[in-house]
Amino acid sequence: PSQCRLLVRNAAQLVQVSDSGAQYLGKAEMQRLVVITGASIVINREGLIEAVGPNELIQSKYTEVTFDQEIDACGMCVLPGLVDAHTHPVWAGDRVHEFAMKLAGASYMEIHRAGGGIHFTVEHTRKASEEELFERLRGRLWRMVRTGTTLVECKTGYGLNLETETKMLRVIERARRELDISISSTYCGAHSVPRGKTPAETVDDIIRVQLPKLKEMMANGEFHIDNIDVFCEKGVFDLDSTRAILQAGKEMKLQINFHGDELYPMHAAELGAELGALAISHLEEVSDAGIAAMATAKSCAVLLPSTAYILRLKTPRAQDMLDAGVIVALGSDFNPNAYCCSMPITMHLACVNMKMSMNESLVAATINAAYALGKSHSHGSLEVGKQGDLLIINAPRWEHLIYQFGGHQDLIKYVITKGKIA
Ligand code: NIG
Ligand code: FE
Repeated sequence: PSQCRLLVRNAAQLVQVSDSGAQYLGKAEMQRLVVITGASIVINREGLIEAVGPNELIQSKYTEVTFDQEIDACGMCVLPGLVDAHTHPVWAGDRVHEFAMKLAGASYMEIHRAGGGIHFTVEHTRKASEEELFERLRGRLWRMVRTGTTLVECKTGYGLNLETETKMLRVIERARRELDISISSTYCGAHSVPRGKTPAETVDDIIRVQLPKLKEMMANGEFHIDNIDVFCEKGVFDLDSTRAILQAGKEMKLQINFHGDELYPMHAAELGAELGALAISHLEEVSDAGIAAMATAKSCAVLLPSTAYILRLKTPRAQDMLDAGVIVALGSDFNPNAYCCSMPITMHLACVNMKMSMNESLVAATINAAYALGKSHSHGSLEVGKQGDLLIINAPRWEHLIYQFGGHQDLIKYVITKGKIA
């Protein structure tokens, strides 16, 4: 082509993450992160990466081509757009009062059992209009983009009935169509047992009423759903209920991506591996057998350091998982309990609290997080043919993105989605 959308040239460092077409990176490959010094990248008018490499090579190849936009990244670094593999961004109300209760000693489950927590948010989300929820979601997604996220997983789960779950799915669908950020949509109707219902009634409603209706609505083009989620936890959904719901979702071709082994050891990891889950989140209480099973099944561990930090949980065993060959990814877990929408802070916490290296954290927040969403063929690294999502940071070494604890809106000079400045 004689015309391309974007040229970024002269980057001090360009972190490709991978250049081998790999769909995820294990511990050994994480140590050999692919970084090019003095690099350029070209995005075509389809928003895809057309060329990436050393300055001289790219510039000699593109002498005849004109660009819609050029950025001189002298003294700056280019990285792939960050991928946030776990968020709950659609809700009304906030839980600042519960933060105070937790600081005073109340546990997450005590608040939940007393009718607060998820129940509090459900009450407010059911009452909120679709327009209000969309505006709140738009603001939150924009904050995520400003801290470098270009692909994000978005869960429902504050409706717990067909009416409000579908309202949340429509809000996510609108964001998917209208906003620059890429979205992977997750139905989490089994986020909690709604007040006034038994667990058995809830499972039955999800499998016999909600899922068939969602299938019909998807077929009508009302919205798209990528993943199915369950909060598998003592006092929420037990192993058998979780299995039944995830199995029903799998039969509808949804990818399995669920909450497990967070507060109490449930053997959720073993269940996920058995069902062929693409991803299992939290895993603070995972067993050794669960780790081994996830490694064999290639079920990705989505670790959420912000939640472990805020709830002072057991530290997720990132290094044990990496050593065992588990694919490790990261998520912000943005939700009314863990009010953090920043992947750079998530990576920083993963390094300091979970003893991951900066290389490991970056891989976990890019290509491995894309794998957790079934999107690593098109996202998560700067390779030819992938979506042109990238960050340009105003620092001479890429590690500044993780080294800094906050202030990333100033550090990140440009966020580019599909070759366009966001
Ligand atoms: O990932 N653990 C369940 N879900 C969320 C919390 C949701 C909420 O408390 O509103 C999580 O931490
Ligand atoms: Fe969550």
